[in-house]
Amino acid sequence: MQYQLSHNPLHTALVLGLLALSPSVYAANKPAEQVAKPTALVNPRSRTLIDADWRFKLEPQIVVPSGTGTALITNWTVRESNTGEADVPAILATMSDATGWTPAKTNEDISPQHKGRYLWYRANLNTLAPKPGKDGEVAVSFPGPGPREASRLVIFINGHRVTDRAADLKAEPPTAAATDQTMDANGLFAYQLVEAKGVPTYVEARLTKWWNSNGPNELLVVVRPGDYMAGPVIFNVNRPAESVAAFDDASWRSVNLPHDYVVEGTFSEKYANQWASLPMPRAWYRKGLIIPESMRGKRVSVEFDGIYRDSEIWCNGHYLGNHPSGYTGFALDLTPFVEFGKANTLAVRVDPRVQEGHWYEGGGIYRHAWMTATEPLHVAHWGTYVTAEVAKVTSDSPSADVTIRTRIANESPDDQVCELATSVIDPSGAEVAVVQSQATVQRGAEVEVTQVAKLASAKLWSCASPQMYRTVTRVVRDGRPIDEYATPFGIRTIRFDVDRGFLLNERPQQMLGTCNHLDFAGVGVAMPDNLQIWRIAKLKEMGSNAWRCSHNPPSNEFLDACDRMGILVMDENRHLATDSSRKSTIRFGDLVAANFDELHSMLLRDRNHPSIVLWSLCNEEPHVPATIRNYKVLKAEALKFDQTRPYTGAIIASKGDSYESQTDVIGLNYARDERFDAIRKMFPGKPIFASESGSARSDRGVYENDPSGDPALNPEKIPPVHMSNYCRDNIAMWKPAAQRPWVGGYFYWTGFDYKGEPSPSRWPAIMSHFGIFDLCGFPKDSYYYYKARWRKHEPLVHVFPHWNWAGREGKPIRVVAVGNAAQVELLLNGQSLGTKPLEAEDWVEWRVPFAPGKLEARGITDGKVVATEVVETTGAPAAITLRTDLPRLRANGQDIAVAEVALVDAAGRVVPTASDEVTFTIKGPGEIAGVGNGDPASHEPDVARQRTAFNGRCACLVRAGYATGVVTLIASSPNLKPATLEIVMEK
Ligand code: GAL
Repeated sequence: MQYQLSHNPLHTALVLGLLALSPSVYAANKPAEQVAKPTALVNPRSRTLIDADWRFKLEPQIVVPSGTGTALITNWTVRESNTGEADVPAILATMSDATGWTPAKTNEDISPQHKGRYLWYRANLNTLAPKPGKDGEVAVSFPGPGPREASRLVIFINGHRVTDRAADLKAEPPTAAATDQTMDANGLFAYQLVEAKGVPTYVEARLTKWWNSNGPNELLVVVRPGDYMAGPVIFNVNRPAESVAAFDDASWRSVNLPHDYVVEGTFSEKYANQWASLPMPRAWYRKGLIIPESMRGKRVSVEFDGIYRDSEIWCNGHYLGNHPSGYTGFALDLTPFVEFGKANTLAVRVDPRVQEGHWYEGGGIYRHAWMTATEPLHVAHWGTYVTAEVAKVTSDSPSADVTIRTRIANESPDDQVCELATSVIDPSGAEVAVVQSQATVQRGAEVEVTQVAKLASAKLWSCASPQMYRTVTRVVRDGRPIDEYATPFGIRTIRFDVDRGFLLNERPQQMLGTCNHLDFAGVGVAMPDNLQIWRIAKLKEMGSNAWRCSHNPPSNEFLDACDRMGILVMDENRHLATDSSRKSTIRFGDLVAANFDELHSMLLRDRNHPSIVLWSLCNEEPHVPATIRNYKVLKAEALKFDQTRPYTGAIIASKGDSYESQTDVIGLNYARDERFDAIRKMFPGKPIFASESGSARSDRGVYENDPSGDPALNPEKIPPVHMSNYCRDNIAMWKPAAQRPWVGGYFYWTGFDYKGEPSPSRWPAIMSHFGIFDLCGFPKDSYYYYKARWRKHEPLVHVFPHWNWAGREGKPIRVVAVGNAAQVELLLNGQSLGTKPLEAEDWVEWRVPFAPGKLEARGITDGKVVATEVVETTGAPAAITLRTDLPRLRANGQDIAVAEVALVDAAGRVVPTASDEVTFTIKGPGEIAGVGNGDPASHEPDVARQRTAFNGRCACLVRAGYATGVVTLIASSPNLKPATLEIVMEK
């Protein structure tokens, strides 16, 4: 969401006036009518969405460039050693002495002569033809298949340990207790390559920082016992042609952001199953931008909210930098490289080949991109921090002291004096306070100004009534406003109590939450803002009031939505250097600069959101000394940025104090009764909550593979890529938390299915089974279990499975009812099969000999039927139906409506076993963004115009264009009556 420039009508008029007068700014490459016309860059500050119309091209997975600037390294000298890490000083000391080094060639298998020994390969890069020029990036890459075992490599240049993030390495010795997979038995720490069956692995080491322009430049690569240097190995000093403005990208595709290109790929067993068995090549984006002459004298920057990952950015061929994290946003100053009044080119290279997590993470510029222009004296990036101290919080008229800390940056050549005027705007839009201060900012420096606004009466933010305030910060110089910046915030108190759990505004408010990753059917991680909001709404409908951002910070727009919708958020930065992540950690246990950078990004960007009630610094760290040591360091760092929320971490199965003692609130993953009680006893005085739980596996509409193990119930065992809905883990996990009022919250793993991590399945499964909703947002049976618990005052009964068991007449079918009535009566074709009490387990079941017809569950409380549900045997599929929760979209080129497709019989009942293929066509100003069906073993492409139904349903995602009007989606299938759906695209 774009910051509001102003809510002062006079000011708005001024801004609009300038808009009308300023030269038009538009993206190149598309006819004007198809292009989102971003707001022109205007005084005093402009922040312009630049999502529209990027040029895009995949790079082949293995890049073996030829021509000037590259050379294959074929000749090495080699030396063996007994151990890895321990020999580093000794080996480096022998570098000046040529004796003991013998020649070897790339691809020459010399491992038999060096059994059980590490091999140190050395090459003098100055003997190779290409020489780096002024802007040259120097790198050496191993595009695969790499050394034979292809899982460990250590690279040095001129005695410095290198990987692509080696600049961040600290020279601390590793801890003896470290046992992570990034360290082998000999204590050799190494870069972990992507392990994917049959797929070339890849690593690139950037050498620029340590490059000796006067030579020599010695490359040293260590391979493990049994390995040898398999090629190719490429030495590269090129500035990529794609980064240069003059490069011709006419043959590239045009795409709009958010964009995930990995989801467009073809599933194959040869790609890593943990990340959804999709290819993850490198790719390029380019965008032409006209920056008007009137901007001269301003600071112009580009801001990316999220690029997955390891992006490199160029402006007009000038290298601006590299951002390894796929989850944090960043801003880069373009000012020195911009040509005002002319076309400028941004180029972005994205490299998702080395993953950060253990689930599908996509690839591409998958969040918004912005251009910002400010005066040289301006509010700094993420430069405001608003907190509120509330008095008389439980009274009818609470009051609050609002503290506003503003960082003002001076990028001008002179020291500057300015006035800082901050208005506080209440939820109704009224200005309720103004505070003014003077500031002097030295050239090239930043100052922080603290102001306090006293509100005699404050409207509190809560889940039921999420009242949002905002501050409007104005920097005024010589009586003229030169910057204006809006900060939404909320006023509320939060507290975790050892006995009462979580308290919001001093009232107990158990967090009823789910953990979620970022992706969705059809679009992968490129989730438009409105689809994220839709997902929150689905969970809210179920009674959920909390969301854990597992395991990384979400988009800013997501948090804005949580603020507005009253959702409690656990924001997370999984980055303790002891997780199994390959993020920025090369040496197990060592914190590096990136650990701190990512923590800073999360806290600086997110700390004004009232929805965030917990900061999580990690997930499931190993129980080694480095964990507690690093937790302490990062928490101390975090406290410099925010002391208004407790710090936690998600802990699993610790024995003793993993890092519980360091957290403010202990987050327990997968705790059951004994564990909650044991931890409470072990850490008296520490509040506790269930940071992750459940992982109950089920696939929508699947009832085979009954985990009861009763062969009579499993006549058609299907491969374990599908999981039945008879999973009772929900009960086992939710009940212990629910029965302990001191457990401040519960986060079920996960609200929605996600691609990758098909645990415990493998290929052909390519996605998870944990969701309460499937990947398309269709509820599974566990939805009703949680809805019954989390909206307990709304009577509910739910019965499953479906009742289409032709061929199993007379054989027992396991029938389950969940709900929140006192009892459930089950009837088959009007005949009662008995009434059972529901309280004890929230789950009752029967073995019912199958007879086609009508199965009915009646929820009974105090002798009255309070809820009923019926499942019926259906006929064959006869027609398609289409519906959507989102019949109106903004014509912004990105919002999406999920069109829900059902295959129904002649009587309009969804056929729970139907699997016809449905084809989609569209008319009007919109497009088909993708499709899905929630089947974890489907290998049909996500970006397509047809999809097979899975257990009666599939989905088609309709994306808005830039024009208003009515879009008609038509769904057809050879044997079924087609359906149409209209979606209105509006301004
Ligand atoms: C947890 C982990 C999650 C996910 C889940 C699957 O232990 O924190 O990231 O892997 O297991 O059950």
